[in-house]
Amino acid sequence: MKSSKHFLSINDLDPEEFLEILSSAKKFKGNRRNHERTLREQVGGIITTKPSLRTRLSFEIGLLELGAQALFIRNEEIGLGERESYADIIRVLERYVDILIVRTHDHNGLIEMVKHANSSINIINALTSEEHPCQALADFLTLKENFNEFKNLKLTYIGDGNNVCHSLMLASSLLQVEFTAITPPGYEPQLKYINLATQNSKKLSGKEPQITNDIQKALEADILYTDVWVSMGESSAQKSQSAFENYKINEALLKNKNIPVLHCLPAHKDQEISEGIFEKNAKLIFDQAENRLHAQKALMLHLYFIR
Ligand code: CP
Ligand code: NVA
Repeated sequence: MKSSKHFLSINDLDPEEFLEILSSAKKFKGNRRNHERTLREQVGGIITTKPSLRTRLSFEIGLLELGAQALFIRNEEIGLGERESYADIIRVLERYVDILIVRTHDHNGLIEMVKHANSSINIINALTSEEHPCQALADFLTLKENFNEFKNLKLTYIGDGNNVCHSLMLASSLLQVEFTAITPPGYEPQLKYINLATQNSKKLSGKEPQITNDIQKALEADILYTDVWVSMGESSAQKSQSAFENYKINEALLKNKNIPVLHCLPAHKDQEISEGIFEKNAKLIFDQAENRLHAQKALMLHLYFIR
């Protein structure tokens, strides 16, 4: 057991912990309100330096459903890493709150927080420029609901080798899903994450992640996944949108093949995914959004028992 009391990366879990969280999430989904309020009298703080619909609300509602108080901390007031350092902010907040959920561009800022947290607080990554591990939990819950087995399932991500791609690649390596990232040249996932996922796969006898620029490989997948071309905090000027033109999930790519498609949302229809393909997969995509709530409740409970 890794038993990490913080959740900065999906790699903070081992496969058993990951599977336990998924089965606890499934139970929460089947019994949304009539369960034990295990986190009563606890306070969960949420800070986001970027916009959010799903993440903020699913955490706030999840905390309330577990009996805790949710406290939204406005970054305009605290100025994470600007008005005050990550190290000092956590040394204050750990004296007030039991769980801290943070969305920030700066992944190292979160690592800094973990380094300086002395008390029993749980710190959760709600998206950084490098990872979006809570999204991957919900995505794997969605996969579990739709496929019999993770082993040998072919999950193919198309688009920017970004935070969402990194977390999906790591999650796949832990649960022996066959992962392929199809990106435009120059937009491949970071080597650090490819190496981590490859190490996991070797240890767990899964297939190593495949990274390619060949969009036609999409047709070999059991399930496809895409995300925006330009992530929050990036300027579209920095990125050549024309590089992504041949990496759209649309009718021309899929022809008549019925491959389901996931999307973490928000979506840009007719950029990374066509309106038609999005609507065809709407049930699955909005299940993913709902599953954020159930998966994060299970995660918070898991971390609480380690604390
Ligand atoms: N998928 C996701 O994290 O959505 P939000 O940015 O709306 O939180
Ligand atoms: N890659 C996207 C994910 C949004 C949920 C971003 O970072 O903006």
